[in-house]
Amino acid sequence: MAHAVCPAERARMLDNPLRSLLVRPHRLLNPYIKPGMTVLDVGCGPGFFITLLAELVGPSGHVIAADLQQEMLDIVREKLKRDNISGRVSLHKTHADSLDLTGSGYIDFTIAFHMVHEVQNPDTFFSEVYTVLKPGGLFLVSEPRGHVKKNEFDEEIVLAKKAGFTIMSDNYSLREFQVILHKA
Ligand SMILES: C[S@@+](CC[C@H](N)C(=O)[O-])C[C@H]1O[C@@H](n2cnc3c(N)ncnc32)[C@H](O)[C@@H]1O
Repeated sequence: MAHAVCPAERARMLDNPLRSLLVRPHRLLNPYIKPGMTVLDVGCGPGFFITLLAELVGPSGHVIAADLQQEMLDIVREKLKRDNISGRVSLHKTHADSLDLTGSGYIDFTIAFHMVHEVQNPDTFFSEVYTVLKPGGLFLVSEPRGHVKKNEFDEEIVLAKKAGFTIMSDNYSLREFQVILHKA
C-alpha cells in the first residue's frame, strides 16, 4: 500500500541547502544529463533538483517538473522566476492514478526521488515512465531507507522490471536505495 503523500507544508524540509550536503545532487545527476536533453522530474515536490537540472540540460534542453500537488508546482513556479530558468522548465500536474503525459519516446532521463512509495498504482506508474522514455533512456529511482523497507523497494523493482526496465546499476547506501533503470 502507498505511503501518505508528503504535504506541501513540508516543502521547506525538502528544499534547503543542508539537504544538498547529504544528497549531493550534482554528483548524483551530472554523469547522466547532457546539454540538449529532455528530463522529467516526477514527484518534483518544491523543486529541489529543478535549477540544477535546468543548468545541466542547458538552453537547448528541457525539464518537465511534474507533481500531483498544485501547491508544490506553485512553489516551483516561484523558484523558476527567481532563478530565471522559466524558459527551460514546464510544469505538469499529474493525477493520482496517472501521470497524464501524452506522447511516447521523447524523454531522455527521468528522476523519481523519494516519491515512488507515495504512488497509488506503481504498476501503471512504471509503465507510463517506460512509455515516455526514449529507447536507451534512463530512470533514476531513489527511496529513503529510513522510510521505505527493503521488501517494499524490492517490490517496486519487480514492477519496474515487469514494465520492461532492466537495472543498469544500483547503489544501496546507509540512507538510500537507489537504482538506474534502463529502457532498451
Ligand atoms: C517526499 S516528496 C519528494 C519531492 C522531491 N522529489 C524531492 O526529493 O525533494 C514526494 C513528492 O511526490 C509527489 N507525488 C506523490 N505521488 C505522485 C504521483 N502519483 N505523481 C506525481 N507526483 C506524486 C508528492 O506530491 C510530493 O511532492
